[in-house]
Amino acid sequence: MRNIDEHTITEAVIARFADTPDARLKQIMTGLVTHLHDFIREVKLTEPEWEQAIRFLTDTGQMCSDTRQEFILLSDTLGASMLVTALNHAHPPGATEATVFGPFHTDNAPRLPQGADIGAGAPGQPLFAEVEVVDLDGRPVVGAEVDLWQADAEGLYDVQRPELGARRQARGVLHTDAEGRIRFRALVPTPYPVPTDGPVGRMLLATGRHPWRPAHLHFRIRAPGFATLVTHLFRDADPYLDSDVVFGVRSSLIARFEPQPASPAQDGSVVDGPACTLHQRIVLAPA
Ligand code: BEZ
Ligand code: FE
Repeated sequence: MRNIDEHTITEAVIARFADTPDARLKQIMTGLVTHLHDFIREVKLTEPEWEQAIRFLTDTGQMCSDTRQEFILLSDTLGASMLVTALNHAHPPGATEATVFGPFHTDNAPRLPQGADIGAGAPGQPLFAEVEVVDLDGRPVVGAEVDLWQADAEGLYDVQRPELGARRQARGVLHTDAEGRIRFRALVPTPYPVPTDGPVGRMLLATGRHPWRPAHLHFRIRAPGFATLVTHLFRDADPYLDSDVVFGVRSSLIARFEPQPASPAQDGSVVDGPACTLHQRIVLAPA
């Protein structure tokens, strides 16, 4: 095919994918080319704008490392992550909803016993939490693996603190007991901005968007026979619940973080300052 112009190019490119052996790959590439070309035509993209886009994507890739995933952040801030989550986790009535995974999970979180302090010295007010994991009929899910991670009171995850080296803070993996419960001490979550020192931060600034996430704890819960649940619990009354930079808030995930006066803590230690308690039930859907 010759003399391709702005009207015939889309059909020509799609035709090149005609022999793709994998039908799903063919569908994805055809859809991608169709929408990409329509987008370029719709906004009448100029050459300097195209160059700027290439530079932006290059910077995004170059910002990525073992501890920084700028592409996930880009996907999150464009709502693509939440869209994929929503499409793939249509939850049955009664099951806890899923939300974005985010870029700060690690596979090497410490395995901790019941009652452990996952904060491990990270700055923040103490949170004494009890989370019950049940099935759709309210029966306890025993031995579920609950992977928890959170930012500290300065808005940083441990992987954002090079001074910690390989030491992990404010994350851990616990297993539910015979009643389907985990008990742990953590940090009262506070709102924090997503990293703004890279291309995603430049995009947020250029478009007049704030970078804040409402205060939350992250959970990934896995148990045989159940669908893996990746979710958050958001702190009630947070100022960013309606404008989360990554569009992850669901009303059903907002939990009561009950302020406690300074007093002996439920784990027997003495807490001199304010603290909170959290009691929450999480319902898993079958696999
Ligand atoms: C997070 O909650 O850890 C997070 C999610 C999406 C983008 C950045 C951070
Ligand atoms: Fe987070």
